[in-house]
Amino acid sequence: MEKTFLMVKPDGVQRGLIGEIVARFEKKGFKLAGAKLMIISDELAKEHYGEHTERPFFGELVDFITSGPIFAMVWEGEDVVKTARQMMGSTKPSEAQPGTIRGDFGLTVGKNIIHGSDSLESAEREIALFFGNDAFVAYERAA
Ligand code: CMP
Repeated sequence: MEKTFLMVKPDGVQRGLIGEIVARFEKKGFKLAGAKLMIISDELAKEHYGEHTERPFFGELVDFITSGPIFAMVWEGEDVVKTARQMMGSTKPSEAQPGTIRGDFGLTVGKNIIHGSDSLESAEREIALFFGNDAFVAYERAA
């Protein structure tokens, strides 16, 4: 089954939005396969955001994502990578539609509540980065 990596960023955790965010994906019908509250090291932040190294906001991005606890999650379900991105809304909260997570709760592009993998390849890479060899829970017994 398709899996994606989602993370409630430090602003979302501080504002008490973990439950709200988890509830949205549960109600949609996706299954939570793994989750942990953690503080990201500088090293992990730089690796995770490696594609943004040359961007002017890279330092700010790393400082912010390491500034407090984040809630890392693996979700699974049909087309979960694309659908989760739609449920998150545009990166810029000013362009995110009402009804999406960023549209409903975000105000700035830096502190935009949630991160989600943008492709199947990113999902695989990010899940490996954050969860390594952790085993994920299966909801149904294999036939
Ligand atoms: P995310 O989906 O986690 O992936 C890259 C992040 O870079 C993005 O969310 C934004 O939070 C962040 N970002 C993009 N543009 C800017 C910017 N101009 N200033 C600060 N952060 C940014």
